[in-house]
Amino acid sequence: MHHKHVMLSEKEGDRERYVYITDNIFNCCGHCQSVVFTMASYSFLRVAVSFIFIVTYAFANDTLYFPKDFLLGTATAAYQIEGGWNESGKGESVWDWWTHENPSLIRDGSNGDVACDSLHKYKEDVQLLSDLGVPKDIKPFVTLYHWDHPEIFERMGGWTNEMMVEWISDYARVVFKELGPKVKYFMSINEPNVLCGEGYGENVKAPGKNLGSPGVFLCMHNVLKAHAKIYHIYDKEFRKYQEGTIGIVLPCSGALPKNPNDTAAVNMHFQFNCGWIAHAIFSKTGDYPEIMKTHVAENSKLAGFSKSLLPELSSEWVQYIK
Ligand SMILES: *[C@@H]1O[C@H](CO)[C@@H](O)[C@H](O)[C@H]1NC(C)=O
Ligand SMILES: *[C@@H]1O[C@H](CO)[C@@H](O)[C@H](O)[C@H]1NC(C)=O
Repeated sequence: MHHKHVMLSEKEGDRERYVYITDNIFNCCGHCQSVVFTMASYSFLRVAVSFIFIVTYAFANDTLYFPKDFLLGTATAAYQIEGGWNESGKGESVWDWWTHENPSLIRDGSNGDVACDSLHKYKEDVQLLSDLGVPKDIKPFVTLYHWDHPEIFERMGGWTNEMMVEWISDYARVVFKELGPKVKYFMSINEPNVLCGEGYGENVKAPGKNLGSPGVFLCMHNVLKAHAKIYHIYDKEFRKYQEGTIGIVLPCSGALPKNPNDTAAVNMHFQFNCGWIAHAIFSKTGDYPEIMKTHVAENSKLAGFSKSLLPELSSEWVQYIK
C-alpha cells in the first residue's frame, strides 16, 4: 500500500541509511499498524515515536473504502532504528544485552548499536519522510514499550516478575507528562504475544528466556496487568488535560481451515492468538477466553501438572483489565 514509500530516490545523499530505514519500516509493517521515523530518547527506556499520516483511500471500482477517518501509517521500534546504545545516560536494555551475548542468533551478526543512527539523525529522518511526499499533517503515535526494558529489570525476572507492572507504570507517567502535551495517540505495549512467545517462551527475541509455555503464560499475565495499569493512569491522570487516546498494539491473525466445516479449529486458533489478550481487554466479561482456560487446564493435567499453566486472573484484575 502506498508504494511511493519504496521508491528510492537517488537524490538522497545518505542512500544506504535511507534504504536501511525503509527496510526496517517494511519489515515492521507486516505486523504493526503504524510508521516511524524517529525516536525520542529517554534515560532508561526509549520511546518509539511513530508518524502517522492520513490517507483517504478510494478503490477504483468503488466497492471498497476505508472510513474517512481511517489512519494509515508505518512504524518501527526504537531498537530497530535509534542506535546510540550506550549514550545519553541510557543503561543497557535487554536487546543490547541479548544481541551482544548472542551475536550468532542474528543471521549477519549485526545488532542495533548504531542501526539507522536516528538518535543523532532524527531531524533528517523527518525530512526524508517529508521528501517522500507525505502530507503535512503527520501525526505521531507513541508506543511506550516495544520490547526493550532495562537489562537490570530482566535480571530481576523481567516480565515473569509482577513488579514489572509497577516499574513500567512509573515510566509511563514520565512519558505521558513529557510527550502528552503534543502526542494525542499512545499505545501501551507492542505485540505482547510476540514478546511473550519469542522472548520468554523461546530464544528468538530478547530476552531469550526459553521458558516454554509456563514462561509465555506468566509473561502475558503480567503484560495484561501492565497494559491495564498504563491505561488507567492515562485515563485518570492525563486524559482530561491532554485529550488523547490510548490503546494497545495487537497482531491478530485468523486461520483458514482445510475443511471449511472445521469452524472449531478456526475459533480455537483465533482465541489462542488474539482472544488471549483482546478478550481480556475488550470483551464484556473480560478474562481469558473460556476455550483457552479449559484447553490449557486439560493439557496441563495431561502433562502431570497439578494446576493449569494458564494463571488465574482474580476478579479484581478481570474488572481492572477489561
Ligand atoms: C559505546 O559503544 C561503542 C561500541 O558500540 C564503543 O566504541 C564506545 O566506546 C562506547 N561508548 C561509551 C561512552 O562507553
Ligand atoms: C461440510 O458439511 C456439509 C453439511 O454437513 C457437508 O455436506 C459437506 O460435505 C462438508 N464438507 C466437507 C469438506 O467435509
